[in-house]
Amino acid sequence: MKEKIIYPIHRNKLIQLSNKYGTPLYIYDSSKIEEQYIKMKNAFSCINNLIINYACKANTNLNILKFLQKLGSGLDTVSIQEVELGLIAGFHPKKIIFTPNCVSIKEIKKAVDFGVRINLDNLSILEQFGEYFSDYSVGIRINPHIMAGGNSKISVGHIDSKFGISHYQIPHIKRILKNTGLKIEGIHMHTGSDISDIKSFLEGAKILFRIAMDLPDIIDYIDFGSGFKVPYTKNDIKTDLVCLSNYITEKFKSFCKDYGNEVTLIFEPGKFLVSESGYFLVHVNVIKHTTSTVFAGVDSGFNHFLRPMFYDAYHCIENISNPNGRLRFYTIVGYICESDTFGLNRKVTEIREGDILCIKNAGAYCFSMSSNYNSRYRPSEVMIINGKDFLIRKRETMQDLLRNVIEIKM
Ligand SMILES: Cc1ncc(COP(=O)(O)O)c(C=O)c1O
Repeated sequence: MKEKIIYPIHRNKLIQLSNKYGTPLYIYDSSKIEEQYIKMKNAFSCINNLIINYACKANTNLNILKFLQKLGSGLDTVSIQEVELGLIAGFHPKKIIFTPNCVSIKEIKKAVDFGVRINLDNLSILEQFGEYFSDYSVGIRINPHIMAGGNSKISVGHIDSKFGISHYQIPHIKRILKNTGLKIEGIHMHTGSDISDIKSFLEGAKILFRIAMDLPDIIDYIDFGSGFKVPYTKNDIKTDLVCLSNYITEKFKSFCKDYGNEVTLIFEPGKFLVSESGYFLVHVNVIKHTTSTVFAGVDSGFNHFLRPMFYDAYHCIENISNPNGRLRFYTIVGYICESDTFGLNRKVTEIREGDILCIKNAGAYCFSMSSNYNSRYRPSEVMIINGKDFLIRKRETMQDLLRNVIEIKM
């Protein structure tokens, strides 16, 4: 597939969109999503059977799902609701993989009814599943005991993590398979997000290859999960896909040869595919000078954009209404009734009340983590396809806040 270089959306276009749709506003550039998808496909083009499953928790807008489905992507899901969204978006059930954590067997039974691939991450559920559905092959999520990921909240493959079945528990897995007759169709790991050091993928790969050799069933796939780091600033590091591919491809091919079977290689990127496609536009309500700080207070908060408060994530913030203004220092905050900082002590071109700020890398884990805290409406979302803008989610209204409330007589 031919790669295109996609330039960021120009600030004049962003201002136009903020005038047309109002703020706060999420905007997604579909051409950037396509660029990332093709980049990943090309990086691993030497693998005969490669599947890319979009981890839709990053952004579940139905139109993003449909767009990736049309590109040829599969879907990685973690809840039965994500599975249903995937089916509504048009994914074939066998192109959806359901990797839940700490859900009930009831939810997993629903996934069986939908006919999607299932990837189990604990022994209790594996045993129960085998008793109910011994003829429905499953994947198993392995915990490789690897510390990886940008911060502790997104490091999920280490020894104390709640995810996966320890790679030391393979004898127990084998016992369950023998006792229930259940078959394993694939093995999976996901060690974390924002992984800049490719060594953790390689270490994990070795463990999965060893487990595949040891299991009684011939597996169809090995899923290396995701965690590809994208740049959040101009000179920020990112996962070196080409370097990773050089190592993985060679090791994977030699594994397939020794294994005697052409196994499918799966990745399930979320952030890599959609993060950089997203822009979050907010309006500056107030400039407030205190004894130590100049605050720019905007018409949004961590209810819409949680990553800075939850992960200490750094997102670039630009004043697109005054791009040539004098550079000054601001702390950019939201309107929520708690500390609500989007950017601490940032050098930004002079911010005035009424300006529009643009927050970058807003395509992944932004809208999908939003809430109605402080009874605020969630923002609208716009998608750009072939240069045209489409409203893909309406701004909420009071009706949305009251939708499921049952008012009782008092
Ligand atoms: C099982 C699984 N796969 C894939 C992903 C996607 O990770 P990323 O967004 O870093 O690509 C996640 C993220 O939490 C995950 O839990």
